[in-house]
Amino acid sequence: MEFETIATHGFIDLKKQNNAVSMPIYANTAYSFDSVEHAINLFDLKVEGDIYTRLSNPSNDMIEKRIAALEGGVGALATSSGMSATLIAIMNIVSAGDEIISSSKIYGGTYNLFVKTFKQMGINTVLIDSDNLEDYERAINEKTRCIFAETIGNPSIKVADIEGLAKLAHKYGIPLIVDNTVATPYLCRPFDFGADIVVHSTTKYLSGHGNAMGGVIVDSGNFDWNASGKFPMLTTPDESYHGVIYTREFQKAAYIVKTRTHLLRDLGCCQSPFNAYLTYLGLETLHVRMDRHCENALKLAKYLESHPHINFVKYPYLKSSSDYDAAQKYLKKGASSLLGFGVDGDGTKFIEALKLFIHATNLGDVRSIITYPAGTTHRQLSDEQLAAAEISKDYMRASIGLENINDIIEDIDNAIKISRK
Ligand SMILES: Cc1ncc(COP(=O)(O)O)c(C=O)c1O
Repeated sequence: MEFETIATHGFIDLKKQNNAVSMPIYANTAYSFDSVEHAINLFDLKVEGDIYTRLSNPSNDMIEKRIAALEGGVGALATSSGMSATLIAIMNIVSAGDEIISSSKIYGGTYNLFVKTFKQMGINTVLIDSDNLEDYERAINEKTRCIFAETIGNPSIKVADIEGLAKLAHKYGIPLIVDNTVATPYLCRPFDFGADIVVHSTTKYLSGHGNAMGGVIVDSGNFDWNASGKFPMLTTPDESYHGVIYTREFQKAAYIVKTRTHLLRDLGCCQSPFNAYLTYLGLETLHVRMDRHCENALKLAKYLESHPHINFVKYPYLKSSSDYDAAQKYLKKGASSLLGFGVDGDGTKFIEALKLFIHATNLGDVRSIITYPAGTTHRQLSDEQLAAAEISKDYMRASIGLENINDIIEDIDNAIKISRK
């Protein structure tokens, strides 16, 4: 089945849900066992089935299957948020004393997780400022367990060289983990370029309506954990699960099974079935929404580029963008809705004059949303720190919604005029 058909029909079995056409919400905690033997087999991972919603739930299962298929993976795990997806994706393969390597141009929350919380847990993160693969290679050592990058960085709007990073990671027997939140599988499938694991904040485009926190981890099934020899947690007995050896029992699905049986069990950051339902509704229209997000963002980017009071525009599909070639390679259908620009006027006045754009910290909503990093989220940073984060004082980061493009342009135009009074 093609992308659009999976998004609307994939894996649904109408007979199993009383012929209801849409997915039911399983607002349910525990599942009854058919017999003692059935319970034993479930706990020993010998048969598939639900035990308790912290571990699995039929509503969550549906979005896991659909997202795994849309990304081209062997399996997925739904989590409570994008942050918990990244947390589990990495904790699944690192221990205290290990290191990870990440691009520094990543979402601020993920940055904090890496440099503060992981540090507290004894996991060191080496941040790479450049796009140069040699800088990544120099940072790899015996303790390195993965490379992490975002397909389209937030708020940097930089496009990662997924193929280059994957080849480098594999040369050293480690996986590449990609946060594909901003691109979505509709615009880019990181597994097609060699990435091994994908994470998403489904809070954004996958649910798409700004109403459901959630995350997901997808496993390509392609990384050879045995050949690497660096991941005993997957290749030697897990005493907390009756000595199971994940790679032997579950083969290509070893990594994703362990995220559930070990970390979802212990950390408890499962997705609410109600949010899974909202995400399921969002997935059904993902392809249609992404086409319009991309179309509106590109039209606005081109308009702003020719505006006399706009200092610069960042959008990977602009020919003037340093990421244009990467965008053509990795983002064949469009460059998503994230757009950055500098206003030649008073930033606070500009933001407050906008009528259509909502001033909030989110993206991937049907409504246009704008943030003013130097005036709000990054206000505490010094000039040097702002420069290092590539956030200038005039920088506005917008997520372009599905409104009529003429109204979007008029709103921005009007606010620029007011910002210069
Ligand atoms: C690229 C990216 N990854 C992860 C996250 C974290 O997701 P959540 O807010 O669902 O925890 C965000 C949030 O903005 C994000 O933009």
